[in-house]
Amino acid sequence: MAGTRTFSIIKPDATKRNLTGAVTKMLEEAGLRVVASKRIHMSRDQAEGFYAVHKERPFFGELVDFMISGPVVVQVLEGENAMQRNRDIMGATNSADAAPGTIRKELAESIEANTVHGSDSDENAAIEIAYFFDEDEIVG
Ligand code: RTP
Ligand code: MG
Repeated sequence: MAGTRTFSIIKPDATKRNLTGAVTKMLEEAGLRVVASKRIHMSRDQAEGFYAVHKERPFFGELVDFMISGPVVVQVLEGENAMQRNRDIMGATNSADAAPGTIRKELAESIEANTVHGSDSDENAAIEIAYFFDEDEIVG
C-alpha cells in the first residue's frame, strides 16, 4: 500500500450540485488516490449507525436527515498521511471558517451542507472503511 488509508464521503449537497468530479479532482490534486468508490443512498439505520458517536449532539437528527436526503459517494483514499492530508484539503467544518483553497471554502454551502466527510483518526478510518467496504472492493 502506498501510504495509509482514510475514508471520505461526498455528501448530498455535492451530489445534488453535480460536484462529484470537482471534489474528487481536489482530493487527487492534494495527493490522494481513490482506491474504492461507490455511489449509494444511505438508509436511516445506516446513517444513524455511521454517526453514532454524535448521537447526543443537538444536530444529530438534522445531520441524519441531511445525509439521507440524497445520494452520497463513499470513498477510500490512499496516500502519505492520508487521514491528515484529507482533513487539510477538506478545511474547517463550517465553510465560513475554512481556509481558501480547501474543498469546504470553495464548494460547501453551510456548516451542515459541507460537501465532504473525512475520518478524524486512523482508528476511525479503519472502522469507517469497514462500515461501507469489503476488503476485495478496495484496489490500490
Ligand atoms: P465530518 O465528520 O463530516 O468529516 O465533519 P467534521 O469532523 O469536520 O465535523 P463533526 O464535528 O464531526 O460533525 C459532523 C458533521 O455534522 C454536521 N454539523 N452540523 N449544525 C451544526 O452545528 C453542525 N455541526 C456539525 C456537519 O455536516 C459536520 O460535518
Ligand atoms: Mg467528524
